[in-house]
Amino acid sequence: MTIRWFPGHMGKALEQIQDLIKKIDVVIEVLDARLPYSSSNHKLTELRRTKPWIKVLNKHDLADPAVTKAWVREFELQAGVRALPLSAKKHADTKPLIRLCQVMAPRRGKPGLPVRAMIVGIPNVGKSTLINTLAGKSMAKVGDKPAITTTRQLIDLHNGVVLNDTPGVLWPDMSDQDGAYRLAASGAIGANAMDSTEVGFFAGEFLLRRYPDQLLKRYGLQALPETPHDLLLAVGRRLGCLTGGGEVDMNRTAEAFLRELRAAKIGRISLEEPSPAPSIVIDKPNS
Ligand code: G4P
Repeated sequence: MTIRWFPGHMGKALEQIQDLIKKIDVVIEVLDARLPYSSSNHKLTELRRTKPWIKVLNKHDLADPAVTKAWVREFELQAGVRALPLSAKKHADTKPLIRLCQVMAPRRGKPGLPVRAMIVGIPNVGKSTLINTLAGKSMAKVGDKPAITTTRQLIDLHNGVVLNDTPGVLWPDMSDQDGAYRLAASGAIGANAMDSTEVGFFAGEFLLRRYPDQLLKRYGLQALPETPHDLLLAVGRRLGCLTGGGEVDMNRTAEAFLRELRAAKIGRISLEEPSPAPSIVIDKPNS
């Protein structure tokens, strides 16, 4: 395990959210559409009970649209949950979110009785960007590094919705090694906390299996490399990431490859899909 990102204590944040949930009408949980499972905080889901819940699949512009559709279907199997893919950077994308808040809290949204919504999510999923776009001005600091916190605020959107910012920082589950690597590949984990070459190999292996055509096209490859190592060698040569001696510089290559992945230069890529429904095993009575 090469990811050295030790999430801080979040008991207090969860306690505050638990208190606040009672006073709000709808929770807006922001997830990264490329990895909706690994970018969620699973403890938060346990607090939900019957509260209307919107799962915003943000960074939709970077994710594979077919996979995002599958996630929407999966999430909406849960009662009281709606899922909405969007790009928080685009104002037009955020309008359906306001409508959805009003639909999910039908007795509110009138003058003097706004829908009280709360925005929650792990660092770097785009909460601040979403708040700023919804508010039409800069209310929350958009970080150039993951894990920048914002102070709690109450924001009247003047359209029948009042927003509560997350009261504290929620962290993802870093005990799941594959999930941690997917978070690292997505850019949710600062460069200091990971080994870029290993994360590059992890991403390369996944893309070779799941998005081979996009790799062939982006890097002008005649044939698909057999291993992630061979893939990065080919990418390094293509991008000119060479040492003084003309060898491929693996670390620089991995960093460049990850930058390309995160900017959707290779295409719109999703790093995880909803798991297939578990098969139902019927216990046969002993004959
Ligand atoms: P947070 O509050 O949840 O921690 O996330 P924040 O809004 O700070 O966003 C984290 C990064 O994700 C920012 O990039 C932001 O621009 C980017 N982002 C947010 N929403 C979207 C989206 O819908 N699509 C895409 N492609 N990117 C999104 P950054 O590089 O850290 O900052 P900046 O250079 O963009 O200012």
